[in-house]
Amino acid sequence: MGSRIVATGRALPRTAVSNHDLARRMDTSDEWIRTRTGIARRYVISSGESLVDIAAAASKTALARAGMRPAEIEAIIVGTVSSEYGFPSFSCQLQHRLGVDSIPAYDVAAACSGFIYALSVADNAMRAGEYSRVLVVGADALSTMVDWDDRAVAVLFGDGAGAAVMVAEPGPRGVLSSLLRSSGEYWHLLSVRSSGVRATLDSEVRRSPDDAIKMKGPELFKIAVRSMADVTLKVAERAGVGLAEVALIVPHQANIRILNAVADRLGIAPDKVFTNIDRYGNTSAASVPIALDEALEAKRIHDNDLVLLNACGGGLTWGANLLRW
Ligand code: UT7
Repeated sequence: MGSRIVATGRALPRTAVSNHDLARRMDTSDEWIRTRTGIARRYVISSGESLVDIAAAASKTALARAGMRPAEIEAIIVGTVSSEYGFPSFSCQLQHRLGVDSIPAYDVAAACSGFIYALSVADNAMRAGEYSRVLVVGADALSTMVDWDDRAVAVLFGDGAGAAVMVAEPGPRGVLSSLLRSSGEYWHLLSVRSSGVRATLDSEVRRSPDDAIKMKGPELFKIAVRSMADVTLKVAERAGVGLAEVALIVPHQANIRILNAVADRLGIAPDKVFTNIDRYGNTSAASVPIALDEALEAKRIHDNDLVLLNACGGGLTWGANLLRW
């Protein structure tokens, strides 16, 4: 038995913020942000909104496309570090919002690698025969965690959610292999002391610098390139597949220069790497499922294509999934 993604969905907050908007608020420029990151705009959650509602909208789209009612789902696994409260978990709130009862619902906290981790956890559970239909979501709202005076961090992040419906299925299609890695040694390269998105949204007060995201960008950049390249090679090796056979890589969208450097290192043509960072920024765990949903809509993925998902983020965590579509 294996597992396969049968449908995806995505949803974003209402407000789009351009680089020009940011340049009016802080000492930055559209030119710097575009050339150093590839970002032109991002969606940012406002106090009247809820990331759980946004994740529910993405989930409902995925479920409708799968021809499934929420009640048919047997488990919900959410990759997120943006729970509204310290507890309950994001996934319990999402379960309630979807009107589903008495199924397992839990979060996987792996920051930007959250969706890659959650997909692997779901695949393993389905291989073990635990569930036959799982909703896997990546959702984050890191804009609520930035210090808006820290321009090196504040310009990078956007908010959103992406969802995938997975079904247990024998046969050659679906998840071929996953590889997850973490190294707590590097925790200090990307961290946030205080969680609980709801409190920040409700108070409408910026986070104090001590409670905001701290990032050592240039050090993280180097490790991200190395680790994403390494895990990409290894996940393909594990499945006995050559990288040349992969039709499309759908990576975590942290920085266009990271994606180009990984492609360079692996000798992959840029047109085999899906990017949408210009329109969303870094949406953390949401970035891979949002990109996957867009790649499918743009018909960049066809039946039986080999598709590789990869990410690196706070923890540090990194990982990849190789799928036969
Ligand atoms: O998703 C999780 C994984 N996240 C990542 O992998 C992020 C990895 N890191 C990066 O993407 C990049 O390191 C950044 C985009 C965060 C920063 O780019 P960089 O090219 O590494 O810039 P830097 O930090 O070395 O800063 C270069 C200059 C500095 O000025 P000086 O000291 O050279 O005068 C910064 O103060 O750019 C300045 N700078 C800015 N200027 C205008 C930093 N941020 C900004 C800004 N606007 N927003």
